[in-house]
Amino acid sequence: MIQTLKNKLSHLYHATRIYGSDAGHYISHSLMSGYAKSEYAFLRMITLRAHVVEKGLTMPHMRANFGEENILALIALCKEYIKAKHDTGHTLFKEALSVLCEYQRVHESMGKSIPPLIATGIRELVNRCPSIEQHSQPEVRKSELFQHGDFAYVAHHRHSVRHFEGTIRHEDIIQAIDLARTAPSACNRQPVRVHLIPHGALFDRLLSLQHGNRGFGSDAEYLLVVTASEEGYTGFNERNAAYVDGGIFLMNLLYALQYYAIASCTLNCSFLPGEEKQVREALQSEDVAIAIIAIGSCPETFKVARSERIPVSEIIVDHSAQS
Ligand SMILES: Cc1cc2nc3c(=O)[nH]c(=O)nc-3n(C[C@H](O)[C@H](O)[C@H](O)COP(=O)(O)O)c2cc1C
Repeated sequence: MIQTLKNKLSHLYHATRIYGSDAGHYISHSLMSGYAKSEYAFLRMITLRAHVVEKGLTMPHMRANFGEENILALIALCKEYIKAKHDTGHTLFKEALSVLCEYQRVHESMGKSIPPLIATGIRELVNRCPSIEQHSQPEVRKSELFQHGDFAYVAHHRHSVRHFEGTIRHEDIIQAIDLARTAPSACNRQPVRVHLIPHGALFDRLLSLQHGNRGFGSDAEYLLVVTASEEGYTGFNERNAAYVDGGIFLMNLLYALQYYAIASCTLNCSFLPGEEKQVREALQSEDVAIAIIAIGSCPETFKVARSERIPVSEIIVDHSAQS
């Protein structure tokens, strides 16, 4: 009894120290403060807002003048970025400007005017960065998306799909989850569970708790909730292992769904503890939530968000010179 109490107190003491240290690192290095401490962070702040616009431009039921507040904030950020003399040739910055120009073009082609503040803001940005390439959100064919090919083909053709239409076969979902079991996990502990949720009260409840499915989530035929059990992990050193194993499974599942011609869009599970508790109650599970995946069939052609990637040179940190 006393030993159990001592153990509990010791765990609590170490938890406060360790999770406190995690929190300190997160507070210092994330965008929590609301301002960007580096060009790197600035570009992510811009991308967060630009992504909302690119996503809006591909929505099945796009609304004229959507997201005005976000667009004004994006314009202001881009101006600040230029003023701070950051690199205006960076992929993510160019993409943000390109998406703003597309917003304007799309409204022109619809015969709709955009608010003067937005129009002036975009014009000012274009005048300062005249060499911006103007892309459009790509249209994708269902046959190309689901064509079987080598890994490079599959990886380059996978997209988050936010247009759902038609039906998929229940057995194909099971086959996809079966295929996703090939995902590796730390010491092969396989902590993942996939909750399969058809339309109904639970489906609606989860979508209402999730932030990021507006305008398309309810069109999905099923939700898959990828969760991971923490029951197989040992010390505090493994405190994030369920998320790593869960994330690896998630990616494998996305490819497996593509293999079985099932369209999917990952939906974040970035919940605060109160919301996470509600999700756990809804799922009747103590697992940690990794992600929700909206799945279904899709039309023959539809738009996807470009979500341009940064060049590989920005990802590789080559330590050869050090050794
Ligand atoms: C962990 C995770 C959470 C995501 N959450 C959302 C979300 O809540 N809503 C949404 O529309 N897309 C979401 N996405 C999809 C991303 O926006 C998308 O993967 C990204 O823009 C890259 O585009 P692609 O998947 O088409 O390559 C999420 C993706 C991941 C990996």
